[in-house]
Amino acid sequence: MRFVLLLAYALAASAADDAIDQPLAAKGDAARGRAIVVNRQTGLCLLCHSGPFPEERLMGNLAPSLQGVGARLSEGQLRLRIVDSSKVNPQTIMPAYYRTSGFTHVAPAFQGQPVLDAQQVEDVVAFLATLR
Ligand code: HEC
Repeated sequence: MRFVLLLAYALAASAADDAIDQPLAAKGDAARGRAIVVNRQTGLCLLCHSGPFPEERLMGNLAPSLQGVGARLSEGQLRLRIVDSSKVNPQTIMPAYYRTSGFTHVAPAFQGQPVLDAQQVEDVVAFLATLR
């Protein structure tokens, strides 16, 4: 019995570590999120990822396709991966889009600023959730 309880706690803890269930800002806008994902300056997601973006001629193959990701992952799991993918995979090459510490080379003008702000993270999550 005690073992079963411990196992239940362990599973609950790992589920919590795999997601950020609390939104960081107001409800995201999927259309704004899509624009961020395909943008070559802000998101740069398509440097590594491909996905259902017929207008894009060049997409990356360093990462899984974003096609269907909204069916594979919950909104909380998507949020955690945008905020800081190293929480899921410490060796990841995916940038942490909403973390402001632990970087080594940051130009003074950008110090203390996340790559995406909280609302942009929510917009990207809202868009990814539509990819089913
Ligand atoms: C430098 C390369 C790179 C960039 C840029 C990048 N990613 Fe990733 N991403 C990865 C890799 C590699 C993975 C696979 C898991 C891992 O290794 O961490 C991943 C995993 C993911 C996952 C989980 C996919 C799954 O099927 O489990 C999501 C969602 C995701 N990325 C979204 C994004 C979004 C949105 C952007 C832009 C805001 C982005 N990524 C930018 C490399 C990148």
